[in-house]
Amino acid sequence: MPFRNTAEAYGSVAKFLHWAIVLLIIGQWLLAEAAEDAGKGTPERASLMGWHISSGMLILMLVLVRIGWKIVNKGQPALLGDVVWQRKTAAAGHGILYLLILLQPLTGWLVVSTGGSPIGFFGWFDFPALTAEDHDFHETMESVHKTLFNVLVAVAVVHVAAALYHHWILKDATLRRILPFTRS
Ligand code: HEM
Ligand code: HEM
Repeated sequence: MPFRNTAEAYGSVAKFLHWAIVLLIIGQWLLAEAAEDAGKGTPERASLMGWHISSGMLILMLVLVRIGWKIVNKGQPALLGDVVWQRKTAAAGHGILYLLILLQPLTGWLVVSTGGSPIGFFGWFDFPALTAEDHDFHETMESVHKTLFNVLVAVAVVHVAAALYHHWILKDATLRRILPFTRS
């Protein structure tokens, strides 16, 4: 499998980044739900949120690498399908997904910064706070972080439905060419 993208298929770097970020996002949701269930002020919640924060910052770094790789690696496979509006919608949808996976961790960073807590990275070091402690801004950022996640889930559902439509109805290579361990 080539390292870089070609005109026909995603390379191993793009595939790895796509699926690593998907899995980490699912992990983020599970950690946040478990932290919610643990209850406010409990050590379990603090520990689960510590993992959520570290893994969220890892996602931010991977998303930045992914965007950088997309800019450097110009040989992007063309979108498949004969219908122009569908290809345009897919391109716009991908752009929105990139924006959402960038804003999601950035707003999380702002939630913790404005709450005055440290932004640790798996116990190795702390990221700096983006802003000073601010109760009102903290509340706003909490709801933005939650709302963005709901938007991300909604767009991802349409994205997955489109991938399955290509695979099962149009029977083209769209899904196969981003799956790991496949050749186009
Ligand atoms: C793509 C990455 C991320 C995803 C998908 C994500 C997702 C979520 C979700 C689903 C929740 C629960 C919202 C709810 O209660 O309904 C949450 C809460 C939270 N997230 Fe994230 N998050 C991400 C990154 C981050 C980062 C990087 C930080 C901090 C540096 C962070 C800090 C928080 C905090 C502090 C809460 C709790 C907010 C509260 O108590 O209401 N998140 N996140
Ligand atoms: C949180 C979940 C997901 C996010 C944020 C996401 C994001 C993205 C983004 C940004 C792209 C565009 C890549 C590029 O060309 O630069 C993409 C491509 C793709 N994704 Fe996802 N994805 C998610 C989940 C999934 C899942 C679960 C599937 C499979 C069922 C999937 C199937 C695909 C396919 C087939 C493509 C390639 C489209 C093409 O070649 O035209 N994605 N994804």
